[in-house]
Amino acid sequence: MKLDGKVAIITGAASGMGQAMALLFAREGATVVVADVNEVGGQETVRRIQEEARETSGQMERAAGAEARPTYGATDGRAEFVKVDVSQADQVKRLVDSTVNNYGKLNIMVNNAGVALLGKDGKIADVAEDTWDRVIAINLKGVYLGMKYAIPPMLKQGGGVIINTASIAGLVGFPSLAAYCASKGGIVQLTKATALDYGRDNLRVNAICPGVIRTAMTETMLADRETKEGMERTTPLPRLGEPEDIARAALYLASDEASFVTGTTLVVDGGWTAQ
Ligand SMILES: NC(=O)c1ccc[n+]([C@@H]2O[C@H](COP(=O)([O-])OP(=O)(O)OC[C@H]3O[C@@H](n4cnc5c(N)ncnc54)[C@H](O)[C@@H]3O)[C@@H](O)[C@H]2O)c1
Repeated sequence: MKLDGKVAIITGAASGMGQAMALLFAREGATVVVADVNEVGGQETVRRIQEEARETSGQMERAAGAEARPTYGATDGRAEFVKVDVSQADQVKRLVDSTVNNYGKLNIMVNNAGVALLGKDGKIADVAEDTWDRVIAINLKGVYLGMKYAIPPMLKQGGGVIINTASIAGLVGFPSLAAYCASKGGIVQLTKATALDYGRDNLRVNAICPGVIRTAMTETMLADRETKEGMERTTPLPRLGEPEDIARAALYLASDEASFVTGTTLVVDGGWTAQ
C-alpha cells in the first residue's frame, strides 16, 4: 500500500485519467475525494471504488479463512463525490474545507480537471474571447485555485503533495490549439514556481505531461482512423496512452518513492516529444 492512510482530492475524477487515478489511489489505501462538475460520472467513480473494495475483501476472506482481516487499503474503499467547478474560488475553497473537516487532513491534491475546446480553439486570431477565457479559467486558474486553497492546510499539517495535470501541449506547440497550449504551458511554469516557494515546507509540487491518451477528451479526434493510426505510427512506443499509464505516474509522484522529486514535469507520452 503506497498511500495507506492518505487523504487525496482528485479533480476531474469523473472520467478519464482522473477516474483512473481515483481507482488506483483507493487501491493503494487512500481516501479519495472525487471532485468534478459531472455528478453522474463522479458518483460512478465512487461506486466503482466501493465495489472494488467489497470484491477484494470478499476474495481475501475466501482465500485466507474467516479470521484473516480483509484489506483494501486502510480505508476500505472510502470515497466521496463533491460537485465542484474548479474555476470558481468559493467552490474550490469549500471542497478543501469540507475534506479537511471530514477527514482531518489533506495529503494529496491532484489538479487534473481540464477542457480542450476542440473546434473552438484554433489559430490565435480566430479564437473567440469567451473560448480563451473558458480554457484559461478551467485549465490554468483551476490549478491556481486548487493550490491556493490546498496549501494552507498542508502547511499546517507539516507537508503535502500537489500534482498538476499539464500536457505535452505545455511543452511543444500544436497547430490550431493556441488557448489550450497556453493554459498547459502556464501549468508547467506555475508548478515550478510553486515548488521553489514551498520546498522548505516539505511540500512537493509536480506536473504530469501526458501525450495523447484515450479518454472522452480525445474520443472524437481518435475516431478518425487516419489520425489514430498517424499518432500510433509517430510514437516511438507505438501505441496510444491509456488513463492507467497516467494514473501510475501520478501514484509515483504522490508516494514517498518520489520524496526527492519536486518542480518537475513527468512526461508520459511514449517518447513522442523526444523526437
Ligand atoms: N486525453 C489526453 O490526450 C490528454 C493529454 C494531455 C493532457 N490531458 C489533460 O488531462 C486532464 C484530464 O483529461 P482527460 O483526458 O482525462 O479528459 P476527460 O474529459 O475524460 O476528463 C476531464 C474531467 O474534467 C472535468 N471537468 C471539466 N471542467 C471542469 C470544471 N470546470 N470543474 C471540475 N471538473 C471539470 C470533466 O467533467 C471530466 O470529468 C485534463 O487536464 C486534460 O487537459 C489530456
